[in-house]
Amino acid sequence: MEENLEQSAGTFVTREQNVNPWSVTGEVGEDGNVKPINYNKLVEQFGTKLIDEALLERFERVTGHKPHRFLRRQIVFSHRDLEVILDRFEKQEPFFIYTGRGPSSNIMHIGHIIPFELTKWLSNVFQVPVIIMLTDDEKYLIGQPGRNVNEYEVYARENAKDIIAVGFDPERTFIFSDYGYMGGEFYRNITRIAKRINRGTADACFGFDSSTNIGKVHFAAVQAASSFAGSFPFVFGPDSNQIPCLIPCAIDQDPYFRLTRDVASQLKYAKPALIHARFLDALQGPGSKMSASVESSSILVRDNPKKVLTKINQYAFSGGRETLEEHRAKGGNPDVDVPYQYLRFFLESDEELEQIRQDYKSGKLLTSEIKKKCAEELAKFCTSFQERRAKVTDQILEHFMTPRPLLCRGVQSNTLL
Ligand code: TYM
Ligand code: TRP
Repeated sequence: MEENLEQSAGTFVTREQNVNPWSVTGEVGEDGNVKPINYNKLVEQFGTKLIDEALLERFERVTGHKPHRFLRRQIVFSHRDLEVILDRFEKQEPFFIYTGRGPSSNIMHIGHIIPFELTKWLSNVFQVPVIIMLTDDEKYLIGQPGRNVNEYEVYARENAKDIIAVGFDPERTFIFSDYGYMGGEFYRNITRIAKRINRGTADACFGFDSSTNIGKVHFAAVQAASSFAGSFPFVFGPDSNQIPCLIPCAIDQDPYFRLTRDVASQLKYAKPALIHARFLDALQGPGSKMSASVESSSILVRDNPKKVLTKINQYAFSGGRETLEEHRAKGGNPDVDVPYQYLRFFLESDEELEQIRQDYKSGKLLTSEIKKKCAEELAKFCTSFQERRAKVTDQILEHFMTPRPLLCRGVQSNTLL
């Protein structure tokens, strides 16, 4: 953003890191290089809390489940009010999980799957309903001129099929698109929220200015409204805005929910709790996030094993050394090595991952070898995803997108109150 630009003493322009729902860039240093995203700084800047060992221990004690590898490895590193959700789980009080996706195209990359995989796992652990919002309206509002509304509705349905293929339970999951679902209690909540956010607050939170279209400004209230159970009366019953949700998302979405939590206090509704994931780096390296519209930056869920291997070999940023001799002598740097980082996200075994880290650092494992291992793991992930995706019919999609009661710990959610 403009205000972050400042001329350094040298010839390069330095720039602070900038993370918002529409773009993610690391700090640009005096040497002109983009640095990895500093996640601790985001926690400070956004006012969230780090997920520490004590909280993970409590999670395990309360749920009886070993934390997911994303939690064990600080990929999901930050939260707001996760303790409140654990309290409710302990007391068997109702809550739900809410997440979403902006259908900007019909292509999803493996980074997009991360919050959904976590969401699926959490819904199994907690046995609570899941609400998934597809923001076709948002993507139209921020999209290029010349694109039309119907395109985004089509993307929403295609994306919904990809999301279903992650493995959501049809009895516990409601998926909707804003264009399809707008109205009723949802729209009532949207206007209650919109009335309580003024332009100054939205500008400060999102960096809007007088050139921002008013739809984009208003959209903040739309994304917020699904945080409240009362927007889904067929799931949670009437007057259910006191039932809180837990929102798994990557940290770029936090500004929406900071505002939502403010407004919830004003409305005396339950504040949403959040858990934040870090980004899966672009193939080019830490400091940006994977983007489906830049072919060379991402692994797409529909890539075949050969394509995955080619992309990793051609584009993946390496923390290895210039020459074989130097690499053997000094070892590589797993912290910036993209193949290692992807293995951290996708390889299940903690022991195997640690062995790879040590071998790479010592120079025993070469760049070509870690790339091969990474491509194999990702290809496995993509192939099994594609097998599930092939089974998602239009009929299954209709079921997930139909407003209906959902299961909550074995009983119908709308009988909970
Ligand atoms: P969208 O479509 O940009 O992203 C969907 C989800 O994926 C996360 N994400 C990533 N996670 C890891 N690595 C990456 N490289 C990466 N890129 C994206 C996003 O943070 C998000 O969690 N406005 C939202 C849609 C939305 C939503 C929500 C998201 C509506 N309600 C509630 C989360 C929770 C959007 O455009 O997301
Ligand atoms: N970083 C590389 C590695 O770890 C070192 C290297 C550069 C290399 N060129 C090479 C290794 C050619 C094998 C062949 O593998």
